[in-house]
Amino acid sequence: MGTALITGATAGLGLEFAWQLATARHDVVLVARDEERLERLASQLRAAAGVRAEVLRADLSVRADVDRVAERLRATERPVGLLVNNAGMAVHQPFVGGDLEREEAAFDVMVRAVLVLSHAAVAQMVPRGRGAVLNVASVAALTASGTYSAHKAWVRTFTEGLAVELRGTGVTATALCPGLVHTEFHDRAELDMSGLPEVVWLHADDVVAAALADVRRGAVVSTPSVRYRVASAFLRTAPRPLVRVAGSPRRIAAAGRRRAAR
Ligand SMILES: NC(=O)c1ccc[n+]([C@@H]2O[C@H](COP(=O)([O-])OP(=O)(O)OC[C@H]3O[C@@H](n4cnc5c(N)ncnc54)[C@H](OP(=O)(O)O)[C@@H]3O)[C@@H](O)[C@H]2O)c1
Repeated sequence: MGTALITGATAGLGLEFAWQLATARHDVVLVARDEERLERLASQLRAAAGVRAEVLRADLSVRADVDRVAERLRATERPVGLLVNNAGMAVHQPFVGGDLEREEAAFDVMVRAVLVLSHAAVAQMVPRGRGAVLNVASVAALTASGTYSAHKAWVRTFTEGLAVELRGTGVTATALCPGLVHTEFHDRAELDMSGLPEVVWLHADDVVAAALADVRRGAVVSTPSVRYRVASAFLRTAPRPLVRVAGSPRRIAAAGRRRAAR
């Protein structure tokens, strides 16, 4: 894979991708908004793994910043062999009367940036006959939990279509569809998940290890853990009216709070 470019590398799954890829001796390009955290991580990776670690500060809700990242992906010097489109956030607000700017920013980070960066990456990978794109979707792609589900459904479907188009090129596309993972995701959105039982939670190191194994074998959809593969099978086959009443982060958080209060 050579060099891997990871968006959202300062926390959670992205941070874990950076560590596991660097430990496997891949050079990394680290993308996120928090420059201090990016620089600190880059130094740690250089020191611990002896790899080249580039920092590319970018707010992926800003078009000019996305274009700078796309430019790096198109570069033929130290070409990027693995793109991990990971940056994302919960949109914890009702759509009706919610802040439209927040909705647009979430759309730009989780949909538009994935589109633009995938386009740039495959343009450089296909002529070389090798490379991989890993797009982080979610099990929420199969639910109907507001715009977040819609964004993740787009990522999953887009990646499946891209994988078909890439067949025979030596380049692969994989959609990662995790369930709930312990990261900064829920705290950042002020979602109180404290009442949920530990069994529903995945750990970032397991999720990332499973995802990278799936990328290596060219899987189109990666759903880490047996329990979330069972949940996904249920969500894919259950009647949609039933699916629509389950699965919203607010509903899940409220169920957790009720459980904690008992
Ligand atoms: N945690 C879960 O339960 C879960 C489940 C399924 C799917 N996912 C998906 O997994 C991915 C990673 O989430 P996580 O759980 O690791 O969350 P996290 O710990 O909150 O990390 C999110 C990362 O995205 C970056 N980011 C956020 N907004 C950005 C922007 N505008 N521009 C550039 N980078 C931005 C953040 O960095 P800066 O703040 O430094 O910019 C951070 O590095 C997301 O796509 C999420 O939807 C998470």
